[in-house]
Amino acid sequence: MTTRSGISARSYPLSNALKPMVATAVEYSATKGDAQSVIDTIDDFASHYHRIMIIGDDKGGKIDKVLKEHKPKIMYELGCFVGYSAVRFGAIIREWGGKFYSFEVDEQSVEVSRKIVEHAGLSDTVEIIHGGFDSAIKPFLENHPDHTGKVDAVFIDHWKDLYVPDMQLIESLNLLHPGSVVLADNVIRPGAPEYIEYMDSQSDKYTSEMLEYKPAGSSEVVDAVLVNILKQ
Ligand SMILES: C[S@@+](CC[C@H](N)C(=O)[O-])C[C@H]1O[C@@H](n2cnc3c(N)ncnc32)[C@H](O)[C@@H]1O
Repeated sequence: MTTRSGISARSYPLSNALKPMVATAVEYSATKGDAQSVIDTIDDFASHYHRIMIIGDDKGGKIDKVLKEHKPKIMYELGCFVGYSAVRFGAIIREWGGKFYSFEVDEQSVEVSRKIVEHAGLSDTVEIIHGGFDSAIKPFLENHPDHTGKVDAVFIDHWKDLYVPDMQLIESLNLLHPGSVVLADNVIRPGAPEYIEYMDSQSDKYTSEMLEYKPAGSSEVVDAVLVNILKQ
């Protein structure tokens, strides 16, 4: 959609106005140094004030369980937004000394997320890298050559048309090892059919499971996180 001023919804989404409001809500309502309090404040904002594009408590809780089972030491995220998932998953993997690296293309998101991560007391665990994943990953790896073949988990949650090319980039850079977990959000809504198809076409290489999301009181599956594990 393009407005009369020529600004498209994608170039100036409502979320640009909402991001600083989330940071303010966290600053005033969440207990400093308490990641759970930060998560609760952002969940509250999303359910009582305005919907925002975060993983949320239902799908987030399902991913928490996967992380507790696999205990990733190095985890990447593609798409940070306001840092909700970075705080949520960073707080979990900190328990076993894990490190969480979140790639985010939007400068305002990077600024807001860094404030929120700091408020949650997770600056030692969560690093936010400014840049589109496809252009930021190579310079990043030059400073972290030990990551090749060592990334234990990846959370893909940026723009849906980038899921396949960025997954192919992850594969071509040999970042994963047998047992690495790749989680992709929103594969049903807004939907990433090419990504589902791409991962399905590699069923000899990856195990596959859909973590389905049904809103409370409904039997309809409205979204899912696709979980693939690189086989031995
Ligand atoms: C759905 S939001 C992420 C939500 C976040 N993971 C959470 O659950 O709290 C998608 C984010 O991906 C970012 N993004 C889009 N293209 C990107 C790219 N190529 N690399 C990194 N981030 C990107 C957007 O700016 C946006 O902030």
